[in-house]
Amino acid sequence: MIDPLFFGEDLGAGSNKLYGAHGGIQIQAVVASDTGQQVSQLLGFRNRKPPMKVSIGGMNFYVGPGAHDWGRAIENLDYERMTGVPETRAVMYGILSRYMQQFGTIELPVNLIVGLPLEVLSGDQAAINAENVKRWLMGEHEWSTNGQEYAIKIEDVKVTSQPSGALFDYLLDDDGQFIPQHRAHFNQEMGIISIGFNTLELLTVNDRTVVQAMTAGRTLGVRRLLELLNGDNLHTLGELDTKLRSSKLDIRQAMPVWAREITGQIEKTWGNRWRRFSQLIIVGGGAILLRNMLVERFSGKVHIPDDPVISISRGLYKLAKQQANRRKT
Ligand SMILES: Nc1ncnc2c1ncn2[C@@H]1O[C@H](COP(=O)(O)OP(=O)(O)OP(=O)(O)O)[C@@H](O)[C@H]1O
Ligand SMILES: [Mg+2]
Repeated sequence: MIDPLFFGEDLGAGSNKLYGAHGGIQIQAVVASDTGQQVSQLLGFRNRKPPMKVSIGGMNFYVGPGAHDWGRAIENLDYERMTGVPETRAVMYGILSRYMQQFGTIELPVNLIVGLPLEVLSGDQAAINAENVKRWLMGEHEWSTNGQEYAIKIEDVKVTSQPSGALFDYLLDDDGQFIPQHRAHFNQEMGIISIGFNTLELLTVNDRTVVQAMTAGRTLGVRRLLELLNGDNLHTLGELDTKLRSSKLDIRQAMPVWAREITGQIEKTWGNRWRRFSQLIIVGGGAILLRNMLVERFSGKVHIPDDPVISISRGLYKLAKQQANRRKT
């Protein structure tokens, strides 16, 4: 039997992250449908390279930074996003194309572990939601990117929560083995916070078990910061996020307001119980934006990984390796 290729896939609302044996890459999850109405041949202007163009069954999409300047923006943050809608496919194929351009064609069958928001995995719809995610990802995929044809076969998909990815990134090394110095924490009480574009997620683990009453996700991510700056609705959130990422957005007034929303939700879910945690792991782009405040507030407990944005997908990859090791023995 041939060994499959393992990947951790983080279907983030702000950016898609893919982590494999060669490392991790990310692509901003902004998509526009191509209306085929570009103006060209104009003198005296700065020429900008168009974003990546992904074609799926005759439909064309622009993907990545600047996409909303080139076509009709598709922006929809509901959780149906996870279930193989066209814009999610476009981003997924976009990131797979980029991975193959960088590291070579993927010819072997692929095994994925996908990280989903806690809200998607909560309540009586959880099993159906997970099934829907698996259904569109499994099987053969064909598309083209900037005119070049691509194909892959995904033969296995497992799902888990986003913050679980961050936890296993902390616990495991790249071969899926426990990191000895971190292993002991898994038998104690730990908290994990993910501050993403759409979601703020809190996971509590005690002695290798999820503490349900202290685990919850809300849509309080960076989008809420951007919404504070978009009162007149003149921009798409994707446009504002591109500006934020390139430090072209003045967030000084809005930051403290958003930070209070974040700490308010943490307080609601955890109260002061985070003081009991042996370790508090914080990931997501929000961990970069709020780093100083978080370190100060949860003094002494906080671990922010070297790359807090990639961490979830990297942990999912490590978890896939661990599971494969177990199957072998
Ligand atoms: N290097 C960075 N520096 C500053 N801000 C960043 C950086 N990377 C990301 N961000 C900001 O953090 C936000 C959240 O990024 P992240 O990739 O964690 O969200 P996501 O996983 O896509 O969203 P969700 O978890 O809600 O699905 C981004 O939208 C961006 O505004
Ligand atoms: Mg995320």
